[in-house]
Amino acid sequence: MRIAVIGTGYVGLVSGACFSEFGVEVIGVDKDVDKIARLDRGEMPIYEPGLDQLVANNVQAGRLSFTTDLKPAVAGASAVFIAVGTPSRRGDGHADLSYVFAAAEEIAHAITGFTVIVTKSTVPVGTGRQVAEIVAKARPDLKLGRDFDVVSNPEFLREGSAIGDFMRPDRVVIGALPHADRAREIMRELYRPLYLLETPVLFTGLETSELIKYAANSFLAAKITFINEVANLCEAVGADVQDVAKGIGLDGRIGKKFLHAGPGYGGSCFPKDCLALVKTARDAGAPIKMIETVVEVNDQRKESMAGRIADALGGSAQGKRIAILGLTFKPNTDDMRDSPSLDIVPALLKQGAIIRAFDPEGTHEAKKHLPDIDYAASPEEAMENADALVLLTEWNQFRSLDWARVAEQMNGRVVVDLRNIYKPEQVAAAGFAYHSIGRATALPTPKLKAVAGGGQA
Ligand SMILES: NC(=O)c1ccc[n+]([C@@H]2O[C@H](COP(=O)([O-])OP(=O)(O)OC[C@H]3O[C@@H](n4cnc5c(N)ncnc54)[C@H](O)[C@@H]3O)[C@@H](O)[C@H]2O)c1
Repeated sequence: MRIAVIGTGYVGLVSGACFSEFGVEVIGVDKDVDKIARLDRGEMPIYEPGLDQLVANNVQAGRLSFTTDLKPAVAGASAVFIAVGTPSRRGDGHADLSYVFAAAEEIAHAITGFTVIVTKSTVPVGTGRQVAEIVAKARPDLKLGRDFDVVSNPEFLREGSAIGDFMRPDRVVIGALPHADRAREIMRELYRPLYLLETPVLFTGLETSELIKYAANSFLAAKITFINEVANLCEAVGADVQDVAKGIGLDGRIGKKFLHAGPGYGGSCFPKDCLALVKTARDAGAPIKMIETVVEVNDQRKESMAGRIADALGGSAQGKRIAILGLTFKPNTDDMRDSPSLDIVPALLKQGAIIRAFDPEGTHEAKKHLPDIDYAASPEEAMENADALVLLTEWNQFRSLDWARVAEQMNGRVVVDLRNIYKPEQVAAAGFAYHSIGRATALPTPKLKAVAGGGQA
């Protein structure tokens, strides 16, 4: 079987490489000439652990190749995966489908035999049918069901552990139209290696599959937002959010994942997918108020973090040297899209802070978004003479700082840990004023009086 994957970004490159590892012949297509040139040279255009080796192995085995030329890649392919970006459309938050529709049109002109057009990009309900219409309009000689079909196959991988997630997913979701037996059979065949591992493969209708992806991401964003608000309450009453998370997470109905309080969710998916779900739901006359609130609360949270850092510095960051460790939205990726750092750093600069940051893999991307700060080549260099240290992303290499050494390097004694990497006692013992999220030593000072006066059952 041969397939084409349109878009060689975080999703397209990983899924293409993984399908080739399953034994399928894969051609990765991208219109970004530079990206394809780098891939042809064996360089990875993104940072994703293990990807370079996986790509190299499969290129060498002759199962994986890359091109900018969509037509020959699509001609004769059993399935064509659309894995292009679907960012938020400016103004209304709806997913911008222009890349998906442009790809669909190009695919239409390249189809030679029966082809399944698979939407792997995260797309709102109704997009699959729109793709079918685009193809039918561009190629009146092609008939849906006879010459081509459309399938929704959302991707659930997480950046940073994308290969493992793709190879051992919790489930595979495949949405198709009622008549589409041939398309379902091709999809079943493609995912056979996972089926053998007893991965649940869920076959649904097209609309259901499209909605599953948004519902999943919005639910996870809600879980994070919930624990972030509980963290605020913990700070107000002197409780410990990590213990609360553990205490509720051990309940199998709740589950312990996505209960880490922090500076607010970011990344290339949750913010835009929550917004798109809100828009779809409103347009459909069935607003999901809970997710509307999640979006609002999370935006406010990211904005409020700079104030927290200023409070830790005594009320203002004006003229203060701040060392920031971690800029990407999470560890093990170079992805800066909607990272909390993009709210926090500009707000600190606006207050007059002098920032020197270090990120293990994100510096190249970060420089495009945050040109007005200094970039250090190591955590030590970032901390040199700093008044405060801010831990913004929980990269493993920030988890075991030698606090005695940090104290020698820094001028000040303020540490703001927005990821709760450390135990408060440990950092305090080294003489630092340690501020974290939702724990006893975090800001603001506990307001126990208000609670004592509450008294309602
Ligand atoms: N990044 C993630 O963790 C993740 C996880 C699950 C789902 N998704 C979804 O997958 C989709 C892709 O996300 P991503 O992060 O991989 O995006 P990305 O921006 O990293 O990659 C998209 C690629 O598509 C290419 N492209 C756009 N139009 C093209 C065309 N007509 N022909 C050929 N190439 C084209 C771009 O040049 C780019 O390289 C999005 O809908 C996203 O929501 C992403």
